[in-house]
Amino acid sequence: MTYARIIGTGSFLPGAPISNDDLVARGIDTSDAWIVERTGIRARHLAESNVGASDLALQASLRALAAANKQPADVDLIIVATSTPDMIFPSAAALLQDKLGIRNGAPAFDVQAVCSGFVYALTLAKKLIASGSHRCALVVGAEVFSRILDWNDRGTCVLFGDGAGAVLLAASEEPGILATALHADGSYRDILSVPGQIAGGQVVGSPFLQMEGQAVFKFAVKVLAEVAREVLGQAGLGIGDVDWLIPHQANMRILDATARKLGLPAEKIIATVAHHGNTSAASIPLALDEAVRSGRISRGQTLLLEAVGGGFTWGAALLKF
Ligand code: UT7
Repeated sequence: MTYARIIGTGSFLPGAPISNDDLVARGIDTSDAWIVERTGIRARHLAESNVGASDLALQASLRALAAANKQPADVDLIIVATSTPDMIFPSAAALLQDKLGIRNGAPAFDVQAVCSGFVYALTLAKKLIASGSHRCALVVGAEVFSRILDWNDRGTCVLFGDGAGAVLLAASEEPGILATALHADGSYRDILSVPGQIAGGQVVGSPFLQMEGQAVFKFAVKVLAEVAREVLGQAGLGIGDVDWLIPHQANMRILDATARKLGLPAEKIIATVAHHGNTSAASIPLALDEAVRSGRISRGQTLLLEAVGGGFTWGAALLKF
């Protein structure tokens, strides 16, 4: 049996951290105490206006390639999960391919599933590797959510940040990704959205993120626990077999509530949201990379990745690292 196995990870955060107090200094009607108490977020990174998602993806990808001891030319599939691509088209993945100097004709495309995008992209890459059509996939989450934030809406602008994370996935006889599950329910479209579009050279509708925070919170905790049990069931494992839960880094309270619902000790959660905020599709590979580089995650451990995002979309992946 051919598995898809993570052979390298990388991540990138642009510029210096912007603290909660820095936001207050910029005139946002909020406080460090409110943000920390409700979300656990202490800082975020914001990209310069001339830096796109593919630029952040490039830095994270170079680090993942170096960690795997691979060259860009070894990559035969590129998938970027993003809801904030550099342009309408070409995709951020095609731009990343060019920036990496990959000239081997490898397919490159974006996946848009908002905060679940990385789990969607990882699942697609895994299935293409298992089919035998591809052997070395670069799977990236990259976002510049700062571009779609309304800085007059304190209920949302304090929550998000920019960043990228990447993994290199290779065909292997050794166990890698064990089980995946993806879901969506578009009837929740209005609870979390950026409803605007471009038409006739104009922005039509709002180009800013809008969210019903409490509705998102309740839905997130419910489906994250369900989808975690779903992948564990597929693999014939229990929650006690999981070494690390690496959830989408949205909010510390959602992370804690999900772990409690699953009966997982809080020490088994990888939480990096405090220093980068919610980076949407980038958050899982960012958290994974930081935990690998700090030595917390080691080879052979069982990891549970899971996310929920606008749509709603949600999903999980269970893997041997
Ligand atoms: O990838 C998924 C992304 N989404 C999420 O992770 C969001 C999930 N939801 C949440 O995390 C929480 O709902 C929030 C953190 C967004 C909000 O926390 P909450 O406990 O649900 O607060 P709330 O929206 O009910 O607002 C409570 C109060 C309000 O004031 P009043 O009406 O009680 O006087 C808000 O106006 O907090 C006020 N408020 C703020 N105050 C200071 C809202 N935003 C802020 C702020 N600073 N940034």
